[in-house]
Amino acid sequence: MTSERREISIALVVAIVLVAVTALALALFSVFNYRHEEARQMEQLRAETEIAVEQLAVSLALPVWNFDRAQIDKVIESGMQSRDIAAIYLQLADVDKSIHARGRDRKWQVIPIRAEPPKEGLLAANRSVLANGEVVGTVNVLATPRFTRMELGDRLNQWMLDIIGIDLLLIVCLFLLLWRFVLYPVRMLEKQAAAVSAGGSGGEAPRPSAFFGELETLRESLAQMIHLLNARHAAVREMAARIMQLQDEERRKMGRDLHDSTGQTLAALEINLGILSRVSKSNADARTLELIAQCIELADKCSSEIRTASYLLHPPLLDEMGLSSALRWYADGFSKRSNIQVKLELPEAGQRLPDEVELSLFRVVQEALTNIHRHSGSATASIVLKITAQEIVLEIADGGCGISSDELRNFHEGGSSLGVGLAGMRQRIQQLGGDLRIQSSKAGSIVKVRAPGLSLGAPRVAGN
Ligand SMILES: Nc1ncnc2c1ncn2[C@@H]1O[C@H](COP(=O)(O)OP(=O)(O)O)[C@@H](O)[C@H]1O
Ligand SMILES: [Mg+2]
Repeated sequence: MTSERREISIALVVAIVLVAVTALALALFSVFNYRHEEARQMEQLRAETEIAVEQLAVSLALPVWNFDRAQIDKVIESGMQSRDIAAIYLQLADVDKSIHARGRDRKWQVIPIRAEPPKEGLLAANRSVLANGEVVGTVNVLATPRFTRMELGDRLNQWMLDIIGIDLLLIVCLFLLLWRFVLYPVRMLEKQAAAVSAGGSGGEAPRPSAFFGELETLRESLAQMIHLLNARHAAVREMAARIMQLQDEERRKMGRDLHDSTGQTLAALEINLGILSRVSKSNADARTLELIAQCIELADKCSSEIRTASYLLHPPLLDEMGLSSALRWYADGFSKRSNIQVKLELPEAGQRLPDEVELSLFRVVQEALTNIHRHSGSATASIVLKITAQEIVLEIADGGCGISSDELRNFHEGGSSLGVGLAGMRQRIQQLGGDLRIQSSKAGSIVKVRAPGLSLGAPRVAGN
């Protein structure tokens, strides 16, 4: 039943939820951290730009005073060494306001530029260049936050990758932990409960070492329940066995009583009617003679019916000649009564089994043939009995409509249910330490019995 409903594992749900929450928390933390770090680094870039412009103003003072253009360009180019500086330009305070400037090309190489570069997206700082207390020009530095942002972006990506890695590891660890402490013990309990509900005794008990906390309490309660259930089942089985034994004894007694007392009385009645018929032949009228003849016939019929009933209750052949002979006699009578042809494959008549084994097998055949007659609609049946040292195999087959799947499931799930019919058959065989299975299809049914063989079942030889 449980295997049909494949539910999502609790452990998986818990692991995924926990991990999702952790991932979300870590991601939020990363984003917050990114923003914070971005603000800090921008501040640092601004400070560095200020320092750079300050240094340039100092370094440029002397070359500007001396009109040393080559030195001015050198100082500006050395200022461009920092990757973050996008452009530097110096506007001289002379009459033609000449400009010395360096910018970047597409490949970020330093190139001379002629005009003031555009400032959007850049950090700008400027200082006056002073020489001998006089303003001789203005130096401007433009820094780009591009590289700082790129580095931060790379770092954020790395964080995200780390988070994913940590999350996967967390899922695995959490799942393993949950599996070990929750899932695995719960599965074992589930298996045990399924075995009990399928009619078994609970199978192998789960190892207590696998349990922990509340699950240990649950395991103990389940074990106690199963113990109680098994004890009650055993009591029920014992009672069923006792009832069947009493029923067998009662049948044997009734059969014997019918045969010995009613049968004998009827035999005496037949003899007397025979005498009456002979005596009356000379002096009675035709009507009386006819009535006497009818009485003889009725008494004969009654006697044969009583004998059949008595033999069916407990076949004397079973005690006297053994199972094979009793089965032959029973199958013969069954064929005549039901018009169902019975094919037999039996061991020789001399081979004997313990009384209770023979009686149980006989009763199984009796019930199986009755079922074939009542339910299968088959015109034929077969009985195969094989007795070896290891095991006894008995198979009763028919070519009828088969047992419905509901009925079969009922039989297989019925566990140790009491009862006549199929359940009673199984009960008898289980008492011999054997097992009874039923196979059925639209082409017919087979009742298969296996019981411990002669080496285990104390054989007897005819006449012993
Ligand atoms: N040989 C068979 N062929 C078809 N159906 C069968 C056969 N044996 C048993 N059944 C089905 O299984 C049911 C249970 O059988 P059983 O336990 O002997 O009860 P009962 O014979 O009293 O109905 C029957 O009612 C019948 O439907
Ligand atoms: Mg029946």
